[in-house]
Amino acid sequence: MAPAEQVAHYAVVGNPITHSLSPQIHNSFAAQTGEALSYRAIELPLGGFAPGIRDLQNRGFAGVNVTVPFKGEARNLCDSLSARAERAGAVNTLSFETDGGIAGDNTDGLGLTRDLRDNLGIEIKQREILLLGAGGAVRGVLDPLLALSPARLTIANRTPAKASQLARDFADCGNTEALAFEALDGREFDLVINGTAAGLEHAVPAIPASVMHQQTVCYDMMYNVEGATAFVGWARDRGAARAFDGLGMLVEQAAAAFEIWRGVKPDSATVIQSLRA
Ligand code: ATR
Repeated sequence: MAPAEQVAHYAVVGNPITHSLSPQIHNSFAAQTGEALSYRAIELPLGGFAPGIRDLQNRGFAGVNVTVPFKGEARNLCDSLSARAERAGAVNTLSFETDGGIAGDNTDGLGLTRDLRDNLGIEIKQREILLLGAGGAVRGVLDPLLALSPARLTIANRTPAKASQLARDFADCGNTEALAFEALDGREFDLVINGTAAGLEHAVPAIPASVMHQQTVCYDMMYNVEGATAFVGWARDRGAARAFDGLGMLVEQAAAAFEIWRGVKPDSATVIQSLRA
């Protein structure tokens, strides 16, 4: 075991944070790779994000993951930002630098595309993709998704104006389009991704099941280790060829953060498997 002074300290901060799987994931990565680190979950008070982060920095933490509802505030606290974090307008990975600066990155989009493509073998290139929602979670994944060259990425949201804004903001990254839920009638997609917060209320966005053809894959950016999420249940009941929740995305965004901090790529597949078990 490494001497206590050589152990690097990390945490995930959010509010609420009690159910976070991140400590389990990062501690598994550390055990796997032999990296000497500790990782815990810390709840920061609403309105107390910046002082909370400064406190962790003063206590010698090496970095922090940021989750709901602080990803936008985290962006504003950073001294430097990766291009993808800048584009996402949100930060989920902070690195505390030796000169006191804070570097921000966003690994959510990479987490999604790695899970879709590498773990699940889902093709994005030249496919028709439907992305539901137009909040922070969706903004965070648009750039990496469009980088995989879908034939078209259609953003549909309960409040259509927000989808239109996102489609415009990312038009330079690929072929984007915005639609209201009602306008999805008569349209079919190869992949439907739920990026709305509807699942928090065990609800499903009000879209027609006719968006699915026989080979359509559905993916929920939310996860539930104990059963199907509302969206995965909806998709399976309506005959989706395959439907997945976002547990793999969670583990992959963590793996990408771990790699930023430690320079080592952990094996995410075994961690996904053990969480499912
Ligand atoms: P997040 O950071 O999770 O993206 P957000 O920025 O508050 O949170 O965005 C929440 C998203 O979920 C929005 O797209 C919201 O739709 P509106 O823009 O119309 O508010 C969507 N959403 C939340 N509850 C929903 C529901 N019951 N049905 C459909 N969409 C819902």
